Amino acid sequence: MSNIFVPQIVVVDDEKHICNIIKEALGSFNYNVHIFSDVKEGIEFIKNNKVDLVLTDLVMGEFSGVDVIDATQKSHHDAVVILMTAHPTVEIAIDVLKNGAYDFLIKPFKLDLLRATISRGLIHQQVIRDNVSLKEQVDFLKVINASAAEDNIEEFMKLVATSCKNELSATAVSLISIDPQSKAVYETIYESDDDSYVETICDASLIHKVLNTKSHQPLILKETVELDGQEYVKTFITQPICSRKKLMGIINIITINRFDRLTSGQLDILQLLSNSAASTFMNFKLYRDLEHSYLQAFSALANAIEARDAYTAGHTTRVCQLAELIALELGWNDQQLRHLQIGCTLHDIGKIGVPDSILNKQSKLTDEELQKMNSHPSMGLKIIEGIELFKPAIPYVISHHEKYDGSGYPNQLVENEIPIEGRLLAVADTFDAILSDRPYREGRSLSIAVAELRKYRGTQFDPLIVDTFIWIMQQGKIDFVQMYGREEDLVQLEESFVTEKAPA
Ligand SMILES: [Fe+2]
Repeated sequence: MSNIFVPQIVVVDDEKHICNIIKEALGSFNYNVHIFSDVKEGIEFIKNNKVDLVLTDLVMGEFSGVDVIDATQKSHHDAVVILMTAHPTVEIAIDVLKNGAYDFLIKPFKLDLLRATISRGLIHQQVIRDNVSLKEQVDFLKVINASAAEDNIEEFMKLVATSCKNELSATAVSLISIDPQSKAVYETIYESDDDSYVETICDASLIHKVLNTKSHQPLILKETVELDGQEYVKTFITQPICSRKKLMGIINIITINRFDRLTSGQLDILQLLSNSAASTFMNFKLYRDLEHSYLQAFSALANAIEARDAYTAGHTTRVCQLAELIALELGWNDQQLRHLQIGCTLHDIGKIGVPDSILNKQSKLTDEELQKMNSHPSMGLKIIEGIELFKPAIPYVISHHEKYDGSGYPNQLVENEIPIEGRLLAVADTFDAILSDRPYREGRSLSIAVAELRKYRGTQFDPLIVDTFIWIMQQGKIDFVQMYGREEDLVQLEESFVTEKAPA
């Protein structure tokens, strides 16, 4: 596809010799000039071809130049029309401009004036087109800037889809991200003006088509379709998103135009957008991989801490499960849930600094020992605060022993001063601790654990979290048999739910 823009000019005048003179006068310019002395033929050509500028006589037998203006405006929103007339009046001039013509020439006119008027009309058109394209660039720039922030990949994908749709004046766009190894689809985002195209553009099997071609060039299929009795060019583009020769996803685009308007500039912009998507997808994958490896390492550490205390085996995993169920009921989003997993896994990491003799002590702790034990949230904070990936775990680590009435530690925060993460974890953590065997007592029953939550609702615990937790228990969303092997407790637990309602 060539980058050189050759304006398509149509001349409509029932005086054939005028058409010929104009064509000859424009011969030395890089224009394609189409002349019509038959007005009907001229209008038909305008309706069915790409047109940038129209030069038409005002009075042509049964036709008027206004008919030509109408036909041009219906098919080409930014085409320029110049009217020619031998009978100029102020009224005509005003009328012509009102009807959408850009300018008019009074017959007979000098050919230099004709050339100058056409040139001015095309410059005016270019200014309008550049301005439109500039507005679209704002979205485009947003995509480029957003690529640095990998935290919200879904928002980023939406931005790329919107930008593709604007840049290519598309009818439908989809963005499909995949795992470069397994080729499994991670996520599909689409934008479509017409629901009937959604299935086609979201078709993940197109990924294999791209893989089979072993090319990173866009696949472009064109066909002619008839809509409302007129022919349109329907173009289907599949643009691969590749990073380091690995396919990270595809962008599917459907454009439907009266004329084949896809330019090499638009394809260049599509390539830039897919490059931006590729680097963001790759960064996102590396970020997730790194987060996963760190979390695995720290989980191993958390397990090592549990192993020092025979009574807390499996505590971290169960607390993560319980906390996630509460968070789901509260409507937390994917990012909050991911942070919750990190926070719950690491919440007692500070116990690494508490001696075994204190952790496993069978008798009551001395004041000094208690102080050491209660320093584990602050100790945990010191361990993780320098690691960027674990910043989201901080509210869990530092505030899971705060109490709703301000009697907790380490900062004696009250009610909503305590981060919601800490308030939520406090309920899950304490509930599991009550059920678990401790050095100084056996694990309690489910109904006792629930009674404890109710008893300290509003003093130790946030009432909303307690109500939510008991509500999800009542809904049967917690598998106590699998988590705690507490089948025998269940009947008694269920009896205690008689009056429970969904939390407000
Ligand atoms: Fe703790």
